[in-house]
Amino acid sequence: MYPSGFYRDENGELNVQGIKIETLTAKYGTPLFIYDTGLIKERYEVFQNTVKNVKGNIHYAVKANDSVNIIKFFGKLGAGADIVSIGEFHKCLAAGIAPNKIIFSGVGKDKNEIEIALRNKILQFNIESEEELYDIYDIASKLKITANICLRINPDIAPDTHKKISTGEKETKFGIDNEDVVSIYKKLHELDYINPVGLGVHIGSQIFDFNFFMKAYLNLKSIADNLKKNGYKVPTLDLGGGIGIHYDSNKKPDFIAYKKIISDIFLKSEYQLSFEPGRILIAEAGILITKVIRNKKNKDKKFIVIDAAMNNLIRPTLYDAYHKIEPVKSKIGRSNTVDIVGPICETGDFIALDRELVEVKSDDLLTIRTAGAYASVMKSNYNARVDAVEILIYNGKSYKLKQIDTIQDTILKEKIIDFN
Ligand code: LLP
Repeated sequence: MYPSGFYRDENGELNVQGIKIETLTAKYGTPLFIYDTGLIKERYEVFQNTVKNVKGNIHYAVKANDSVNIIKFFGKLGAGADIVSIGEFHKCLAAGIAPNKIIFSGVGKDKNEIEIALRNKILQFNIESEEELYDIYDIASKLKITANICLRINPDIAPDTHKKISTGEKETKFGIDNEDVVSIYKKLHELDYINPVGLGVHIGSQIFDFNFFMKAYLNLKSIADNLKKNGYKVPTLDLGGGIGIHYDSNKKPDFIAYKKIISDIFLKSEYQLSFEPGRILIAEAGILITKVIRNKKNKDKKFIVIDAAMNNLIRPTLYDAYHKIEPVKSKIGRSNTVDIVGPICETGDFIALDRELVEVKSDDLLTIRTAGAYASVMKSNYNARVDAVEILIYNGKSYKLKQIDTIQDTILKEKIIDFN
């Protein structure tokens, strides 16, 4: 049995499930995303254990990594899905997730998306405004198909995370104001083809201080309890996702603390809970391997130019995010403070700034850690760069996740106009 995840062998070389990373790059090239099903399974089971003493279902937040095979693997482990577009819905269907295990979240579902989801008997819509409710009502009554509706609350809580991924404050576009939730929930009961199924909350992502979750969940439960006291049915509560992971160390999230919060608040209640974890299930199970193109110096400033760029991993550029970077083959030697940058023509194209890194040379391989979530899904083809290859390791074998378009393929797809 091999250790799960990416580990070094006795020669200091990085491996996964008994395969040398170098063997994989020789076969597939770089930049290369590698995902380990062993670690995905391990993380899923840890989360399952964390929430096992309450009545709850896990809906993998597909936006973290929407590869059909990865969704399928989560499905095999027993997960449902949380989606935010009909594109993600179709991917889930292709992955074999039953529509009655799929929650449709998001602030901007359009009428077409609502109709497709309804016709396919999706489990529920988590809605974010009264306007959205009436759009769903119109379509549901036209189709004579009942829509299960959960209201997402905006509790006006500001968690300790990056502004761009904080979603529980009044100023953000997300959720329904605490004060309006009750009146809208009551309206749900008056509409044909609308079935109220509960309330939900998701205050953001990459959250470490669980007191924010506690506040959000207590608020959710007290609104739900009040509604129930007044005779309204509130069978389910959706607790969203958002648990943070440590990009800079091997420290695990404090699942014991999370378990305690969930148990303290919900153990004695009747609510059926839903969880929508994304990052904690998949982030650490992916790495991005890149090749050093060259070293470069501008006066005293040192750069390592690599063949991965912001189009492969935009998190450092977008959120000042930290990703651990290390040579694929352990190296001992002098280290320097360097900027690790891609070939894209923007100053913002970097993976790390002012990073201590052992000296490396052209063609050396580097691993960018914790690149399983919100990495390849946020890719672009800026500067006419083709997608990175992505592979999954399952039972000691590597599988390519999809065919990658060459630059010739992409040019062929452009409609060339004859300007004569
Ligand atoms: N549920 C809802 C309604 C969400 O909006 C999200 C994430 C999740 C669940 C899953 O959250 P997680 O467990 O993964 O934190 N691109 C950013 C993260 C954006 C998260 C968006 N919503 C990043 O790279 O950090």
